[in-house]
Amino acid sequence: MDTLLHSSFFRKFDLFAELDDRELASIAAVAKVRRYAKDDVIFHADETGDVFCLIKEGQVKVTMISPEGKEIILSMLGPGEFFGEMALLDDAPRSATVVATEPIELVTIYRNDFLQILQENFSITRKVLGELSKRLRNASNRIESLATMDVYGRLARFFLDLAKESGKPLENGYVAVTRPTHQSIANMIGTSRETVSRLIHDLMRQNLLLSEGKTIYLRKSALDQFRAEL
Ligand code: CMP
Repeated sequence: MDTLLHSSFFRKFDLFAELDDRELASIAAVAKVRRYAKDDVIFHADETGDVFCLIKEGQVKVTMISPEGKEIILSMLGPGEFFGEMALLDDAPRSATVVATEPIELVTIYRNDFLQILQENFSITRKVLGELSKRLRNASNRIESLATMDVYGRLARFFLDLAKESGKPLENGYVAVTRPTHQSIANMIGTSRETVSRLIHDLMRQNLLLSEGKTIYLRKSALDQFRAEL
């Protein structure tokens, strides 16, 4: 009974989508659920890592802190996404700090169990490698934009990526996206909060976007304009 309950719990994750009941039960036997509050640090860069984490609920930010104390956000990860695999795969310390940006629930799996799961289930290994490839592509794009684009270009690309990943097209010609804070956007595109606020206000004045609470409405024509300019 317990095992059945656990199997259906794990089946919801895309990472485990190809597994049969027996395989899911073996994951359930080694996985634990951990909860964290908003702003809790899940782990710090440079720590030794021994656990793989899959997000059930909530969101985390993957960050690096510069020697001057400036935060650089490498990525925001949400439900169904995972982190903490790198230190387990390359036996090096944690590559970044991971912080809960809202209350979160994680499924955690210890190193040896995780490595055994990868060895026994190619569908999972393939998905982990696919995600690592996607993250490497994103990092390459980020390096390219930092080296070749001004801040306006980087903000335009940020909105294009956000619209592509999580935008909801509306019938009135806008795409709705959930807006990270101006400070988070600044930390993602390598500029100051003041610059992000000024650029967003310029875009609002030109009617290219509207901001309402935590939602930004991007005009589809603005996204076309951004695309053409990049
Ligand atoms: P690990 O190095 O074990 O601990 C930090 C985790 O942050 C890392 O595993 C990855 O899961 C995640 N991470 C590190 N760099 C990036 C990145 N550029 N984009 C997304 N996630 C990352």
